[in-house]
Amino acid sequence: MLKRVLLFTAAVFWLCNASVIVWRAPLAQGRSVQSAVVRLGEQLFRDNRFSTSEGDLPASCSHCHLYDEDPQGLRAYADFFNRSWVSSRSQDVRRLELRNSPTILDVGEMPRLHYDGEFASLEDLVKGTWAGRPMGWLPGEEAKAYAQTHKVLTQDAAYRTQFKAAFDVDVLTLSRENTINLAAKAVAEFMRTLKSRRTSPYDQFVRANGLPEAPATGESAPAFAQKLLAQLSARESRQELKLMPGFDSLALQGLKAFLSTANCAVCHVPPLFTDQSYHNLGISQREYDQIHGAGKFAALSIPGATEAKRPSRQFREFPTRKNPSDVDLGHWNFVDLKTSPLRRAGESDERFLQRMIGTFKTPTLRNLNYSQPYLHDGSLHTFEDLLHEFKRLSELARAGQIREGDDELARINIAESDVAPLAAFLQSLNEDLKKYR
Ligand code: HEC
Ligand code: HEC
Repeated sequence: MLKRVLLFTAAVFWLCNASVIVWRAPLAQGRSVQSAVVRLGEQLFRDNRFSTSEGDLPASCSHCHLYDEDPQGLRAYADFFNRSWVSSRSQDVRRLELRNSPTILDVGEMPRLHYDGEFASLEDLVKGTWAGRPMGWLPGEEAKAYAQTHKVLTQDAAYRTQFKAAFDVDVLTLSRENTINLAAKAVAEFMRTLKSRRTSPYDQFVRANGLPEAPATGESAPAFAQKLLAQLSARESRQELKLMPGFDSLALQGLKAFLSTANCAVCHVPPLFTDQSYHNLGISQREYDQIHGAGKFAALSIPGATEAKRPSRQFREFPTRKNPSDVDLGHWNFVDLKTSPLRRAGESDERFLQRMIGTFKTPTLRNLNYSQPYLHDGSLHTFEDLLHEFKRLSELARAGQIREGDDELARINIAESDVAPLAAFLQSLNEDLKKYR
């Protein structure tokens, strides 16, 4: 039965993708070189011919980063699954990607990419993804993957014309490496154009009231939160605070909790609502213990800095009953012990690496209506469920029961009466994405 469902879904995916192959961006008049690069990038983003033919699901970037391709509705370049689907191979019959696909709006502003900070640039991410598991390739198949990428780029006459327009090169005279680098650059440039427009009810509220949109240079996140809170109170006491549709008194109450007792703004810093850093909120522990039993994550043996081989297959996997040592330790896999800004003065390698257990990149909170489910494991679907879970995890952290839980997790205080206001505030961070096309 399961097999039949998988085959059926694979067929649907294939059909969706077949239409993607013939998709061509409309040609604009009087285009600039920049837009030729972006247009090429968008086309490459939607091309499924870079994925392996040996699996059962052809894939393009747009397969998991959808905008308006799906009848289920608009997405902020994310998909609908808890964990994205990958091509199943006879040597690796998995169906699920390691993680939930996040929005890629505003990725141009992120210093490192992926929940675990695997990639330092969008260009590296594109190359790594074209030759990786999202496209159905197995570890060790990189050379084969790039040979196929190169073949598509050089044998498609339309691409040759587009490379000429975008980069003034003839791909037939370039080395394989240079061609793939230019293609990756085009996709990266396309992604840099994918930005939130800052037109949400929250943004309108901030502008209408002349409130600060982001911390000043050098201003810390807590100082900024204090300043914003003080300005809100001052305007409110003078009865000058303007509310608006989509940002009502409930959302205002939520914003105040967000900036104060709920402690959200120390990590979710405006305007993108991320500090671009990594924190352990106990999400990996929660998933692991749900499968293996309470307290099991705390007891799991994790090697220290001298023995650990990172990134690690075992510690970069989601937990299953079958493989009890598999777990996702996030940024632990990639943190550079010597150069990371997260390292505290005087901290040893051992202590620092331990502290990185289960840390994940703080996601943006913009446009969440278009990227659910939430968290790296895609385990929660509504703001209310997420807030109740954060309340529970913060209580566990205060009781010392989250292994290497972030210090700021223990400082989250969510009263039951904060849940509806916080949810209304998160709602106010959504834009009307359908206006953009
Ligand atoms: C099989 C589904 C799948 C495909 C295909 C796929 N992605 Fe992703 N993408 C994901 C998932 C899942 C993540 C989260 C990965 C992680 O954090 O480990 C992600 C993360 C990203 C991110 C990082 C976002 C952030 O905030 O750090 C970018 C950018 C991105 N993908 C772009 C691309 C591009 C470009 C392609 C095509 C070359 C692509 N993706 C193909 C599923 C996919
Ligand atoms: C210590 C830093 C920190 C604090 C404090 C914090 N968050 Fe987060 N938040 C994160 C990280 C990191 C993740 C991703 C965790 C994961 O997937 O493992 C996250 C995930 C989320 C998500 C899911 C977003 C998505 O796209 O999946 C929401 C919503 C969210 N936080 C809202 C809040 C709210 C509301 C508060 C205050 C009650 C809060 N956060 C407090 C760091 C923080």
